[in-house]
Amino acid sequence: MRAVLCKAYGPPESLVLEEGEPPPLYPGGVRIAVKAAGVNFPDVLMIKGEYQFKPPFPFSPGAEVAGVVSEVGADVRGVSVGDNVIAMTGAGAFAEEVVVPATSTVPLPEGMEFATGAALMLTYGTSAFALIQRAQLQPGETLLVHGAAGGVGLSAVEIGRAMGAHVIGTGGDDEKLKVVLDRGADHVINYRNGPFKDEVKELTGGKGADVIYDAVGGDVFDQSLRCIAWDGRLLVIGFAGGRIPAPPANLILLKNCSVVGVFFGAWVGRQPEVHRANLEKVFEWWRQGVVRPNVSHSFPLAKTADALYAVINREVVGKAVITMT
Ligand SMILES: NC(=O)c1ccc[n+]([C@@H]2O[C@H](COP(=O)([O-])OP(=O)(O)OC[C@H]3O[C@@H](n4cnc5c(N)ncnc54)[C@H](OP(=O)(O)O)[C@@H]3O)[C@@H](O)[C@H]2O)c1
Repeated sequence: MRAVLCKAYGPPESLVLEEGEPPPLYPGGVRIAVKAAGVNFPDVLMIKGEYQFKPPFPFSPGAEVAGVVSEVGADVRGVSVGDNVIAMTGAGAFAEEVVVPATSTVPLPEGMEFATGAALMLTYGTSAFALIQRAQLQPGETLLVHGAAGGVGLSAVEIGRAMGAHVIGTGGDDEKLKVVLDRGADHVINYRNGPFKDEVKELTGGKGADVIYDAVGGDVFDQSLRCIAWDGRLLVIGFAGGRIPAPPANLILLKNCSVVGVFFGAWVGRQPEVHRANLEKVFEWWRQGVVRPNVSHSFPLAKTADALYAVINREVVGKAVITMT
């Protein structure tokens, strides 16, 4: 099978596409013939050696797939050859075949394209966990989503809207922000035009945002503490902007707010049944047309480096996927 391999930490062009042995099947595992793989910001960090999860070399990056089960291992129940599934893989998805525990697969909803299925588990799973369990977002609350045109950002906009929140999305490009409006944000703010905190205050009648979803970090996080509501929840999702903020504890005290960590990947292993229930909700919203994962870019396996550069260069709106042909 063909796989994109990382043999040493480096930039996307250091990845190599090679023909090799398929990964071995194990008891409880299923082999998936990959149809599409989602591209995520953490893939970029992983090949640079900057992600918390460091697979041994050589490894194929790629954390989520959609495909068809081609083989099942011993002791597998409830998953059969020929099933269309989606799964999180941690790594290994930028390959024609991947083996995962059967228990980590989820049936691809009837009528959903493989590319869409490959694009939603990590982002919508993260945002559902963040907004439902961590923030306990309530209908009528104001949700401020930073990096709203990105993978996790756009999913947070849609889920926030589905949960009945007023959504404000921020981003750095007016064209990308049009998609954020189309996906249900009530207002958008371009943070390249200057500080956003006053506009957030104005849009919320001086109160500030009840829940802030921050996948950007740095200055964006710092400003967020200045426009969060009393009792607000500031969700720490990621640091796409590059700087890990160090929030002043006095501001957290004065705002009577909570700074809430969100580590989706580790949580899924601890509460898999809650994760599945969240996904069911997401699928229900998708059936209702409330959630429409946006795949702005699609690349063949041989162009994986281009896919990663599309993410690095902030060209992607929602998600990029790798498709197998
Ligand atoms: N906590 C968790 O469990 C969890 C789960 C998944 C992802 N994450 C993290 O969430 C972050 C976003 O992931 P993603 O997959 O949504 O990435 P993405 O699709 O690349 O989106 C990131 C967004 O951040 C904005 N951004 C601002 N400054 C940036 C910069 N200097 N470089 C790149 N983007 C910048 C970009 O929007 P504009 O161009 O509009 O500014 C972009 O749309 C990452 O740090 C990732 O590791 C965390």
